[in-house]
Amino acid sequence: MSLELHPISIGALNLKTNILQAPLASYSDRAYRHLAALYGSPMAISEMVSVEGLLREGEKTLDLIKRADTEQPNNPDSIPFTVQLFGSKPESFEKATEVLLKRDIVPLIDINAACPVKKVMKTGSGASLMSSPELIGKIVKTIKDVTEGKVAVTVKLRIGINMSHLNYLQCAEEAFKNGADSIALHTRTSEQLYRGKADHSYTKTLKDAFKDKVIIASGDIFSRDDAKRIIRETGADGVLGARGAIGNPFIFSNNEYTDDDYINAFIKHVELHEYYNDSPLKELRKFAPYYLKHVSKNTKDARVFICSKAVTKADFINTLESLKSN
Ligand SMILES: Cc1cc2nc3c(=O)[nH]c(=O)nc-3n(C[C@H](O)[C@H](O)[C@H](O)COP(=O)(O)O)c2cc1C
Repeated sequence: MSLELHPISIGALNLKTNILQAPLASYSDRAYRHLAALYGSPMAISEMVSVEGLLREGEKTLDLIKRADTEQPNNPDSIPFTVQLFGSKPESFEKATEVLLKRDIVPLIDINAACPVKKVMKTGSGASLMSSPELIGKIVKTIKDVTEGKVAVTVKLRIGINMSHLNYLQCAEEAFKNGADSIALHTRTSEQLYRGKADHSYTKTLKDAFKDKVIIASGDIFSRDDAKRIIRETGADGVLGARGAIGNPFIFSNNEYTDDDYINAFIKHVELHEYYNDSPLKELRKFAPYYLKHVSKNTKDARVFICSKAVTKADFINTLESLKSN
């Protein structure tokens, strides 16, 4: 392992390395997380889950918190499963945590204070939480109290709502003061959404301010080299593989990879999706451009077919097999 890539601990959890699978709404379902685990992610994170939805124990929300096989505690090779919660009221976080405890779901809960989607922010959730650092602290404390400190609690922040309100340091301070075990920082404002370059000088400032705390960097990590560089330049303890991991689970592993490796990874993804039956296979169409952009031969016809017509497992697998070199 390189100097930058190494085991880390978050609360009582020991992770075997420090490029972690990021939460990705409508991507990081069980099949995606299982695949990431097979390729070396040391931890799994759910898509963002509404605390209000959890309280209602609705079927769709409960589906989001089902563990993959790679996250089952009785599996000796399993990795910790994190549920990421979004909401705005400490009492709803408390009750949602009770639902998770009742179902014996998680060793780790992540609080989403980073989502920039208007519909979410309008309810005071996601990145809106950053307008009240004290509220973030209160939510951390509520979860710590209700879990009697047995569950690690992490917070995902942006650098601020916009460039005139860069208050990630205050938010981190409140979170740590109330017992947070780690902060992940996406180094864009919520107003920026995903535009522009992520500026990791903010990660360095955060790590310098909280030297003995676990800081995870997020933003524009598209390769293992990006991960290493950002860790080296900022002192961050680890990074999140987000857009850079979609169609590229190799970001979590050490291997050299060929065109066929990418095709095989996509095939495995299709098989896992079918196995978990998370949603119709058609949902996997959106992954085709991500996997196939790594394949050097001309994949245009295959991509167009998968993106517009693939429905059955055979549609996906036969098209992908036809791209293989042998
Ligand atoms: C499609 C998509 C869905 C995302 N869903 C979530 C989410 O549910 N929770 C969250 O905290 N961040 C979410 N993010 C943000 C990522 O986890 C990550 O912080 C962000 O993409 C920056 O990293 P990148 O520039 O390396 O992609 C999402 C990002 C994308 C592109």
